[in-house]
Amino acid sequence: MSLLLGVNIDHVATLRQARYALQPKSPNAEPDVVLAAREAKAGGADSITVHVRGDRRHMQDADVFRIREEVDVPLNLELGITEEMLNLAFRLKPDFACLVPETREEVTTEGGLDVIALFGTAREAVKRLKDAGIKVSLFIDPIEEHVREAARMEADMIELHTGAFANAVDKSEEIARLIAAAQLGHELGLQVNAGHGINYLNLPDVLKVPFLSELNIGHSIVSRAMTVGMRHAVVEMAAGMKSYSLHP
Ligand code: PXP
Repeated sequence: MSLLLGVNIDHVATLRQARYALQPKSPNAEPDVVLAAREAKAGGADSITVHVRGDRRHMQDADVFRIREEVDVPLNLELGITEEMLNLAFRLKPDFACLVPETREEVTTEGGLDVIALFGTAREAVKRLKDAGIKVSLFIDPIEEHVREAARMEADMIELHTGAFANAVDKSEEIARLIAAAQLGHELGLQVNAGHGINYLNLPDVLKVPFLSELNIGHSIVSRAMTVGMRHAVVEMAAGMKSYSLHP
């Protein structure tokens, strides 16, 4: 089976919020997350990932409901384990839910979910989401005990946190950790995904990890879209200005 690509479009909303956070209903509020999801799908995304954070710094509740209703693509909701977010998941009914740690101060999800410390809370969240018909993933660091705990909790999937790998200059140690965790996850019957900090340059190293089902990639794809799309965006604006005449 080929490796699936989940595209995280949170940072499309980050850009919109940078200008329109206080005017969400403005007709100018762009970029549109629904259009971004459609374009990602047209480019071959197998699923769309969104993370509604407690502080709503990028995706808003209305965004994820619009994506769910208007784009025919499997939806993966990343969420912190709070009653508010679990209720959002129960209303949204995404295809997949990925439980992530969340703190207000972090710029992005910095570490995996500590499934050992959070055992009772995480287990209950997994059960409630599964009972609601949602497949559940746990975003964990590539640590043997965390993989074993995820299996004990009966999560459907683990998503191995590739952030430490992405940030390492010498990647060999981090690749070895990912390989061992992926092998163990597979042996324990878990679907193994990976994500965070994966880009066009480090992708070949990620592909050395066995038993992967899906990669979740956001920042590098959204960044690349801005670079490869810039020329066309300027061409369109310049074309729109062509008909101007100083003395009509
Ligand atoms: N997977 C999870 C669980 C995440 O929290 C994130 C970041 O939101 C990603 C994947 C995507 O990471 P990146 O934006 O670095 O590609």
